[in-house]
Amino acid sequence: MKNSLKWISLSLLICSSVNAAQAPAKKLITIDSDVISFTNKSFGPKAMEIKSVEGISLLEIDEDSINELSHEMHERFNRCGGFMVHDSLDEALETLESSEIRNFAKSAPFAEYSLTEEDVVTDMIAQVSEKNITEVIKKLSSYKNRYYKSQSGVDAVHWIKDHWSSLIAHRNDAKVELYEHSKWDQPSVILTIEGTTDETIIIGGHADSVAGYWGRANAHAPGADDNASGIATITETIRILANSGYKPTKTIKFMGYAAEEVGLLGSKAIAKEMKQKNANIVGVLQLDMTNFKGSDLDIVMMTDYTNQQQNAFIGTLLDKYLPEVSWGYDKCGYGCSDHASWHGQGYPASMPFESKKGDMNHNIHTSRDTIEQSRGGSLHAVKFAKLALSYAVELDR
Ligand code: BES
Ligand code: ZN
Repeated sequence: MKNSLKWISLSLLICSSVNAAQAPAKKLITIDSDVISFTNKSFGPKAMEIKSVEGISLLEIDEDSINELSHEMHERFNRCGGFMVHDSLDEALETLESSEIRNFAKSAPFAEYSLTEEDVVTDMIAQVSEKNITEVIKKLSSYKNRYYKSQSGVDAVHWIKDHWSSLIAHRNDAKVELYEHSKWDQPSVILTIEGTTDETIIIGGHADSVAGYWGRANAHAPGADDNASGIATITETIRILANSGYKPTKTIKFMGYAAEEVGLLGSKAIAKEMKQKNANIVGVLQLDMTNFKGSDLDIVMMTDYTNQQQNAFIGTLLDKYLPEVSWGYDKCGYGCSDHASWHGQGYPASMPFESKKGDMNHNIHTSRDTIEQSRGGSLHAVKFAKLALSYAVELDR
């Protein structure tokens, strides 16, 4: 909870032109190590590196310099966010250690990654419909916003629940539930197709949207790309899997998270509870922004806060089932979406993204994040729906 509060204050601070209260004190932050040569040069003794572990550095920084650093992160490194402020040394060290856990986790695969289901996958991916994806993006972006504290944010999640329920109505091994959060009104939504073992596969994305800094509950935040596109991609994956009559061995869960835009709050709560219950989660796929083709590469796998073995597996899926799709790797530079919540609990997560970070859709978090920015269609998202289908089936068998 302490962490999530920090993320809130960070997301308010970052990308805002307003100065926070000034006090000549020192703060502890963790930040990606690739910016350290820059902070040394620009901030000198005002930002001292204390320790670094596997690509993440702990810095002691003058509180006065934090605004300037966030500005530089945005301008120079194209990172909206980009570091975490910590309340205590203990908390900061915990974050560094979790990067150690991540790298430990890299050494042992969570699942068997061979490809054996060519016939099933080929048949399913041929059924992906661009029109269906477009319709869901249009519906979700028609709400004024999907903010975690607005009624329209609640209504939008109820619409997702009802729509997903209609897609599985003919099956007795599937259900859709709302996951209520105690601190705000917007629920998360979870669709479960029961398997026959305790192993679980999760495919998720955030349902909320945001624009501006003040009056967010009334702002116009269509969030067509961020992240109606991910929810629409997941919805098409559900439709095809459910209609195919495919009976999974592992349990497959599809999630629409509440409150991602204010610090990954919904997914953090769910991941924490599942970890507490010892859930055997063998893979998590995060779909956040799938419909804006900003780069020459079609699909870009984020390497930070993700599991490298699962990322490599997804690469093999792309090569085999979508050979016409080009793909590569990049980094967010910080825990930029819900995959970081699962990763933080030690589960193998991946985030295939719509562009390189530097080519990102600059209309997100504004009233201009509409489907028109993607030419009114969903051609790019279709690739992600095909990928999600191949991921679900090949990880399952
Ligand atoms: N979809 C974005 C994350 C994103 C944006 C990834 C651009 C890659 C490129 C997500 O919804 C988001 O806005 N995340 C926040 C951080 C979060 C911890 C509040 C962000 O990036 O500022
Ligand atoms: Zn966002």
